[in-house]
Amino acid sequence: MRDDEPCQVGVMVLDDLTAQDLRQLEPLILKSASPWIAVGDASNMEDPEQRRIIAHLSHAMVPADTDILRLTILLEHAAELSRLQHIEREQHGLLVLDDEDAQEYEFVGTTPVMWQLFKTIRKVAAVDAPVFISGESGTGKELTAQAIHERSARAEHPFHAINCGALPEHLIQSELFGHEKGAFTGAQQRKIGRIEAANGGTLFLDEIGDLPLELQVNLLRFLETRFIQRVGGLQDVSVDVRILAATHVNLELAVEKGRFREDLYHRLNVLQVNVPALRDHSEDIEILARFFFERFSSEKASGLKGFSREALTVMQRYHWPGNVRELINRVRRAMVMCESRLIRPEDLGLERRGFNRHHMTLEEVREKAERDALLAALGRNHYRVNAAAKELDVSRVTIYRLLDKHDISRTPPEEVRFS
Ligand SMILES: Nc1ncnc2c1ncn2[C@@H]1O[C@H](COP(=O)(O)OP(=O)(O)OP(=O)(O)O)[C@@H](O)[C@H]1O
Ligand SMILES: [Mg+2]
Repeated sequence: MRDDEPCQVGVMVLDDLTAQDLRQLEPLILKSASPWIAVGDASNMEDPEQRRIIAHLSHAMVPADTDILRLTILLEHAAELSRLQHIEREQHGLLVLDDEDAQEYEFVGTTPVMWQLFKTIRKVAAVDAPVFISGESGTGKELTAQAIHERSARAEHPFHAINCGALPEHLIQSELFGHEKGAFTGAQQRKIGRIEAANGGTLFLDEIGDLPLELQVNLLRFLETRFIQRVGGLQDVSVDVRILAATHVNLELAVEKGRFREDLYHRLNVLQVNVPALRDHSEDIEILARFFFERFSSEKASGLKGFSREALTVMQRYHWPGNVRELINRVRRAMVMCESRLIRPEDLGLERRGFNRHHMTLEEVREKAERDALLAALGRNHYRVNAAAKELDVSRVTIYRLLDKHDISRTPPEEVRFS
């Protein structure tokens, strides 16, 4: 087994485990997403609840007196299965973070652009430089920041997010840097600012473009010296945090217009991650919609089973200006409002007509399908032409011809740029 892979197989010695113990272990085992082997005998199976849990959780069951050779073989088989499941999860875009609230941070995406994003996240998580995350509103910038933190060496330390646009101007200074007792009227005691509170961890500065110019100076000073001064304090406090920043506005333009300091821009912009708009990976819409349907299934009527074909088609064609956030809101509302078995376009607040202004010709449909299939196969196979050719059952020469025809580069897009 390779060192960089997580622990692969779990062994559960049933011995004196009661149904109650097993019930408590159940969520942990499910979360581990690895095959589990139960070691025990028939006496552990008398209680129906125990039987249900063991049957549900285990990949195999062996008696306690099994010889070591048999157990070793079984473990090897389970490890092989786990390795396969791991590859499957990675390639099909479910980036499950090893966090307490893993559910919260699940990233869904099965397309080459999302695969690229996951790869970039892993790369930038391995270093400690500032990262600048760009992307339209609702695309998953904060989720990306969390994912970087969770995969970084700072994962055990705090992750703090501050929306620089949401705080009133007079409060930002003390919110970010803290203040000393008596620093201003109402400052009855010392307050630790968000930068200091994130010590050891990661600070995510959301909507950094909205940070007032005078605070940009203070932030730059912190980034250069790694010291802060609380408002009303003279002491330099050393703080070790990694800065991630995001904005949905064009920061280069803000620099040109003099609204954002160029030196700060360059400090923050060492590594870049761009989160794609939903319409640029529209093949993910269906899987995302089903994912959120599951996530909010406790809020729906029991008769509601899923999405109608028309709803899926209409979602596919819609432009999604609010991206994944808008998709979540529409699906959630539809789940509450829907009165039939399947969600219809009108439950989503989307028109049945109006998306069809440009009808694609059959030739265009074919071309698009060919390009999409090619990109998806390349993505799944890490741009290895041989593997993609094998999967699509064509020759390497055909793949090269199609790459030229569709103007697709032979190497994966550059995901990390150092400035
Ligand atoms: N690929 C994805 N898979 C699963 N959930 C996602 C994905 N992308 C975004 N989300 C979810 O969509 C919502 C919006 O994401 P997030 O808050 O990260 O976006 P944002 O780019 O920071 O938005 P804004 O610009 O409005 O601040 C969150 O609930 C997030 O968990
Ligand atoms: Mg955000």
